[in-house]
Amino acid sequence: MSDLTFNKIAGAVLATGLAIVGLRELSAGVFTPEHPAKPGYLVEVAEEGGEGGAAADTLPDWGTVLPTADVAAGEAAFAKCKSCHVVDASNANGTGPGLHAVVGRKPGAHPGFAYSPSMTEFAGKAPVWDYDHLYEFLKAPQKYIPGTKMTFVGLKKSDERVNIIAYLKAQGGTLPVPAPDPSRAPGAAAAAAPAAEGAAAPAAEGQPTTTEAAPPASTSGGPAGQAPAQPGAPAPAPAAAPAKK
Ligand code: HEC
Repeated sequence: MSDLTFNKIAGAVLATGLAIVGLRELSAGVFTPEHPAKPGYLVEVAEEGGEGGAAADTLPDWGTVLPTADVAAGEAAFAKCKSCHVVDASNANGTGPGLHAVVGRKPGAHPGFAYSPSMTEFAGKAPVWDYDHLYEFLKAPQKYIPGTKMTFVGLKKSDERVNIIAYLKAQGGTLPVPAPDPSRAPGAAAAAAPAAEGAAAPAAEGQPTTTEAAPPASTSGGPAGQAPAQPGAPAPAPAAAPAKK
């Protein structure tokens, strides 16, 4: 009697274990890329290196890009900022501080605006809003100044940022255009950006297709799939998740 009970319990435990093993086998079948040789995965790594890292951004050579920046395009792009900022001479505060003459201004210092502690702290490190700081901040405000009150996602495109900065500079900015700096490899940044984006696009599109198009060519039928055959099966690469930014 008690033997029988024990058998029942043992049987249940065993069945559960088999079910788990079976599920793992099944998911391995689903998520293991059908064609691991497909270069999509490699390209995606390149994307992360090229476009992803905020730190790995190549700063423009301002002496070269500012004189040729498209100020009108910058003004048009500033529409994305207008819900929170004015840039005219009234310099009124809204959701965000007035941005008239912000280029060359001390960060977090516009009278009457209640800045976040993060912005005030940033002002301790950066004496003025120079071109580099604006360029990095506008790319990803929350990343560059964690805790900032500026709840704006950022501008990914380098040339859009350059144009907006040129526009801001034209609105009372006090910082001169620096002399061209050969060490910043003029043109290199502009050439690299489209290349990285171009390479990224096919990867981003190809990626989900590849994963979805891998139906379980799996061997394991069900819970009984006790196949010890696949212990060496490559774990589904975590990199398979498209790094959405
Ligand atoms: C959703 C509202 C919002 C949007 C949209 C927004 N900002 Fe801001 N911005 C803020 C707030 C709020 C602050 C103050 C941040 C803090 O105190 O941490 C700020 C701060 C700034 C600062 C620093 C100002 C200073 O006095 O130190 C700059 C420069 C700036 N924003 C530029 C822009 C630009 C350019 C855009 C458009 C591409 C933009 N912002 C879009 C809300 C916004």
